[in-house]
Amino acid sequence: MAITIKQLHPLFCAEIGRVDTGEPMDDATFAEIQAAFEEHSVLVFHDQTLDDEKQIAFSRRFGPLETAGKANPAAGTHFARQSNLDIRTGTVIPPEDRRMVYQKGNYLWHSDSSFKAVPSLCSLLSARVVPPEGGNTEFASMRAAYDALPDDRKRKLEGLVAEHSLVYSRETVSTEALTPEMKAELPGAWQAMVRVNPVNGRKAVYAGAHASHVIGSPRQEGRALIQWLNDFATQPRFCYSHAWLDGDLVIWDNRATLHRATAYDTVRHKRLMQRTTVGGDLPTVKQPERYELAEE
Ligand SMILES: [Fe+2]
Repeated sequence: MAITIKQLHPLFCAEIGRVDTGEPMDDATFAEIQAAFEEHSVLVFHDQTLDDEKQIAFSRRFGPLETAGKANPAAGTHFARQSNLDIRTGTVIPPEDRRMVYQKGNYLWHSDSSFKAVPSLCSLLSARVVPPEGGNTEFASMRAAYDALPDDRKRKLEGLVAEHSLVYSRETVSTEALTPEMKAELPGAWQAMVRVNPVNGRKAVYAGAHASHVIGSPRQEGRALIQWLNDFATQPRFCYSHAWLDGDLVIWDNRATLHRATAYDTVRHKRLMQRTTVGGDLPTVKQPERYELAEE
């Protein structure tokens, strides 16, 4: 039986029905999901039966998975854990704890792993414990934003390269978010500012909170351009807000969207989301010699 596809926003995002990603899936069904992913950028699945093992198995069908870095509580695994619950005790982490301060960086519009030399293809976020209110994840279509740019702006972006850094973006939130050991494994990366989808040729702006400055431009000038692009791309007309239900899985294309977390009451409510991240295949531009290519 074929999957169903229901558009959730006039420009992107679709709800996929009649499939459980926690169950074994034939190649024809996965090919339909992959085609929907290339077309709609964000896919929403309800009532999924994923556990950690099944999520890894399904995610791997998109490609090899990234491994969480030292900054995440699930470091060394294939999961980036988004939660206010201590990974060992299951109790609520106090808001002033570094682990919660670190997660505040997720309130900024970003593309996962854009600070890596080979940035990610997509992320899969599975809702395991959902708070009764708040905690939506919002998505912005960088393809729709690109299409709406004035022609002269499109021309100016061609060939531009930005430096992306997790240290930069986290330090705009707090200088306490990362330890020196965490910073040491985060050299940053260079990225094209326009990305082209290899299947359908659609172009997308590639920026977000990790983008620090533009190579070859004065730092403040490049930063102002990035800020302008981020503000332009995240206008409400390009955005979809996902209100999570238990059992939801959302997959998003990090090449063509930005996303951000939104607040919830982290003292009164529990939230646990498990993210797997599928690695990309190539750098978007040649990297400067001082960066090591990530092996993840
Ligand atoms: Fe993220």
